[in-house]
Amino acid sequence: MKRQFRVLPLLALTLLAGCKSQSPTTTSGSGVRQGLGVYEYRDEDPSVQPFFSDRQGVIGRNGMVASAHPEASQVGLNILKAGGNAVDAAVAVQFALAVVYPGAGNIGGGGFMVYRGNDGKAYTLDYREKAPGRATQDMYLDSLGNVRPGLSISGHLASGVPGSVDGMAEAHKRFGKLSWAQVLQPAIDLAAKGFALTERDALGLNRIKGDLTTINPGKTYFLKNTNPADTLKWQKGEIMVQADLARTLQRIQSQGRAGFYEGETARLLAEEMKRGNGLITEDDLKDYHSVWRDPIQATYKNYNVITMPPTSSGGVALVQLMRFTEPYPLRKWGWNRDSTVQVMVEAERRVYADRAKFLGDPDFVKVPSDTLMNVDYLKSRWTDFSFAKATDSKNVRGGTIPGYESLETTHFSVVDKAGNAVSITTTLNGGYGSRVVVGGAGFFMNNEMDDFSVKPGVPNMFGLIGNQANAIAPQKRMLSSMTPTILEKDGKLFMVVGTPGGSTIITSVYQTILNVIEHGMSMQQAVNALKFHHQWLPDKTIFENGAFSDATVQNLQNRGYMLEKLTNTLGRMDCVLIRPDGSYEGASDPRADNTARGY
Ligand code: DON
Repeated sequence: MKRQFRVLPLLALTLLAGCKSQSPTTTSGSGVRQGLGVYEYRDEDPSVQPFFSDRQGVIGRNGMVASAHPEASQVGLNILKAGGNAVDAAVAVQFALAVVYPGAGNIGGGGFMVYRGNDGKAYTLDYREKAPGRATQDMYLDSLGNVRPGLSISGHLASGVPGSVDGMAEAHKRFGKLSWAQVLQPAIDLAAKGFALTERDALGLNRIKGDLTTINPGKTYFLKNTNPADTLKWQKGEIMVQADLARTLQRIQSQGRAGFYEGETARLLAEEMKRGNGLITEDDLKDYHSVWRDPIQATYKNYNVITMPPTSSGGVALVQLMRFTEPYPLRKWGWNRDSTVQVMVEAERRVYADRAKFLGDPDFVKVPSDTLMNVDYLKSRWTDFSFAKATDSKNVRGGTIPGYESLETTHFSVVDKAGNAVSITTTLNGGYGSRVVVGGAGFFMNNEMDDFSVKPGVPNMFGLIGNQANAIAPQKRMLSSMTPTILEKDGKLFMVVGTPGGSTIITSVYQTILNVIEHGMSMQQAVNALKFHHQWLPDKTIFENGAFSDATVQNLQNRGYMLEKLTNTLGRMDCVLIRPDGSYEGASDPRADNTARGY
């Protein structure tokens, strides 16, 4: 199916704004021009502190890698310096993250890649996990049709057939320049020789010790001491060695995809599944193949948004969100002022309702992506919008499309010297996935099956509701929110962006893009900026502490918005911006260990 989306006349888009608006009660923030012609955001209201931290971006001219872990970013940078291109570096980073960031980096999970070559051609690779051949629609329900809690989240039954290794092999085969052996070597070294844990690494592993020992009886992976009963905890700076994982990576290095999907690794994985009553077989592994899909390409003002089509919902949703807000003067209203927030939240409410109704694996269900992103359709979804009062989510359903039959993740961004760009989001789903470690092979398996709608209307671990379009079927891919995205400005590479965060991925990417192109923030400021999120159901807007001024909170509540201040944070962005002078600004999220490295 063709998925190219053409320029839409601005006139048509302005109709979207509707005529119910009353004067917005906001004051405006301002962009202050800095050297190099990059805008730096300042807020005119000194009581508003929009940033999580004052971290500055990393500037380079020849290459940039932003990822969730300093060791992985360094691996990517070394590959670029050794003459590798953005894809070589991205493949090396994916494997390095599988070693140094086992909570989300993976070979037992899956992901999505958006690639834009410096010739302007764009590609996406879907290496999302698939349901095993023996999966059934009701596999998580009891005889009365009730959901058996936890089964899609932890343990062997929670895993889909992993896609990451096939994805990396495909990406490298098509676009890599260095040898496969060379891009695998840094990860093998990190696993075999070990690396120093960050404080966050140590805390993460200590936190899951209980699950590690109950879900993996008799195994000692990721425990500080080979005696599982030992209560010793990991400390920052300790060296963690992963010998079995090093051997698994060596098999992948010498045999390519067959080093994972056939032979010893496949045998170990299938044995592990048998041991824990999981469903994945050696045949499932052999049959797994990632898929090149036509990217979604959509214009927003003088930008072109290149993003992931289904099986992720992220791209369709991002384009819907941007088109809903395009007609409004967000810049004039100001960053996170009440009218700005209102328009964005109302867009989010409608977009997530559509996601629940229509989106699923396009190889199994007809996904009406074109219609969902069409301006006339979006206009029809906006008729009940009013600045006076919040729309009630109870009254919002997925839209009506005539003729349509109903039926801890991580992101990294790489740009090389030649201007090739990679945007990858990859995941085990929850932190450390199903918490099952494949015996003898040393890696975590995903719990991606929870991203299916296990029963219509029953929320998944991110509170997302789905329907028949995202019901379980053998070999089907589960719907994702991951939104790896690349933006062009005036036809040239402009931004590489993405984040983890489950259902909040889409809205974090949306805000980060708007922060730069509407509010005049630098890339790092856009990442540092405090964020909010609404996903239709539950009907509430969650926000990072400080994201809204007291006055905005009051105004929104007066108009019927339910607001909830978070005690934790939103997003772990890793982005690159091409500045007007051609240099790269790498921006990594100060909310975690994320690090940008450039040269
Ligand atoms: O594909 C998805 O949408 C989810 N499996 C992503 C999970 C995620 O982002 C967890 N990290 N915070």
